[in-house]
Amino acid sequence: MILVLDFGSQYNQLITRRIREFGVYSELHSHKITIERIKELNPKGIILSGGPHSVYDENSFRPDERIFELGIPVLGICYGMQVMAQHFGGKVERSKNREYGKATISLQNNRILFHETPEQQTVWMSHGDKVVETPPSFSVDATSPSTPIAAMSNKENNMYGVQFHPEVRHSEFGNQLLRNFVFDVCEASGDWTIENFIEMEIAAIKERVGDRNVLCALSGGVDSSVVAALIHRAIGDQLTCIFVDHGLLRKNEADDVMKIFADDFHMKVIKVDAKDRFLSKLQGVDDPEKKRKIIGNEFIYVFDDEAAKLTDIDFLAQGTLYTDIIESGTETAQTIKSHHNVGGLPEDMQFELIEPLKTLFKDEVRELGTQLGLPDRIVWRQPFPGPGLAIRVLGEVTEEKLEIVRESDAILREEIANAGLDRDIWQYFTVLPNIRSVGVMGDTRTYDYTIGIRAVTSIDGMTSDWARIPFDVLEKVSTRIVNEVEHINRVVYDITSKPPATIEWE
Ligand code: XMP
Repeated sequence: MILVLDFGSQYNQLITRRIREFGVYSELHSHKITIERIKELNPKGIILSGGPHSVYDENSFRPDERIFELGIPVLGICYGMQVMAQHFGGKVERSKNREYGKATISLQNNRILFHETPEQQTVWMSHGDKVVETPPSFSVDATSPSTPIAAMSNKENNMYGVQFHPEVRHSEFGNQLLRNFVFDVCEASGDWTIENFIEMEIAAIKERVGDRNVLCALSGGVDSSVVAALIHRAIGDQLTCIFVDHGLLRKNEADDVMKIFADDFHMKVIKVDAKDRFLSKLQGVDDPEKKRKIIGNEFIYVFDDEAAKLTDIDFLAQGTLYTDIIESGTETAQTIKSHHNVGGLPEDMQFELIEPLKTLFKDEVRELGTQLGLPDRIVWRQPFPGPGLAIRVLGEVTEEKLEIVRESDAILREEIANAGLDRDIWQYFTVLPNIRSVGVMGDTRTYDYTIGIRAVTSIDGMTSDWARIPFDVLEKVSTRIVNEVEHINRVVYDITSKPPATIEWE
């Protein structure tokens, strides 16, 4: 295992990612991790990430400096190198000017870190301060015109520092450098795979759960589906899933979830048919925030009612991912998030949380799902909001309007898949704005609804651009929707990015 200590660089997750891509398990931890915990983790190597601070800032992030005395190889990147230089008695010069962008470095004598890379190479710099004097017994391993000490090392005690960012793709041979550190210096073995993860995690779940029982809220989304499949593989019928069908799901979705999990995987799934409960609560409500609140609360009530009927449950499984944990940062934030996901479970229901995906990134979760035998339509499912189609029917939600969205959405999804675009477009769906307009069908005047198509590209949903769907695909979708979905006489395409719009219309 390679331990990455986080000093706040925007690239810190990338280091962990790159190392896992080599088949070596890696975890990112706060720089505040205790020396005892590091000893427990027993890493083969430690990487100190970059960060926004200067080592001279009063409140700059510092590791427990005993990490340099553990006999474990250390690679300091950018700020991490400066921390290392200072610790061993080198000199860091403070600077207000940042060097940001590509630079060319030339290699010097010690090439361990640069094994199999050329004499001159492009790297990505992003720093203000820099090391201007190496500590005693360190060598300068690379220089650039503006950064004479671009890399340094002390071979004897396996201390390495680079001023640039090898984890960023713009550093031409950065991946090779990380590989050299991980394999040649730390002598890690590249045998970490998702198959190993499954084996280890199943053993851990069995050990922790014993003969007790686990409850899981299954939504049919990627994370909860993978959690359920993994835990089921470990403990079989000791897992019970609750699947709340709030009547706001897409076409055939509820049946599909039941088919996959109850029929094909033989899991214990309690399907709660709560459509009437949700629709009656939503009657007459047209404010988007009120709709969201009602649905969120009702979901918790329904889940609680069902969970209360079960006895003998000790654990609640959740699909928390690594990004949820590292983005929320502190222990406190993590708990708030868990509570938020679980909803307001009654106080007398004392569950222990079980979160088997909490060390994985989204693409690793997808791979895990595939390895566990989940179908592509689950593993590659596009994001779908908790309040479901209710926020895609603008204004009051009625059964008739839900049906219009459901049918038009199914056509859009089918045509996007036919065009082979389903993995390129991050999210695509239809919305029903609360407007009607005049049209003509046959020789008859119509006065009917408009359907909006929304399709976006995005990395994380925080920002997005509208997807450039080819016109002929849009034409097919439009023709099919007006022909096949009753009460639609017009189709429009939303060409707004986020910001200023949001992805959903409500
Ligand atoms: P917006 O509309 O805010 O959406 O640009 C960003 C992403 O979040 C999804 N979304 C939700 N997901 N519960 C969810 O689980 C919600 O209440 C919710 N609202 C929006 C949306 O589909 C998009 O992927």
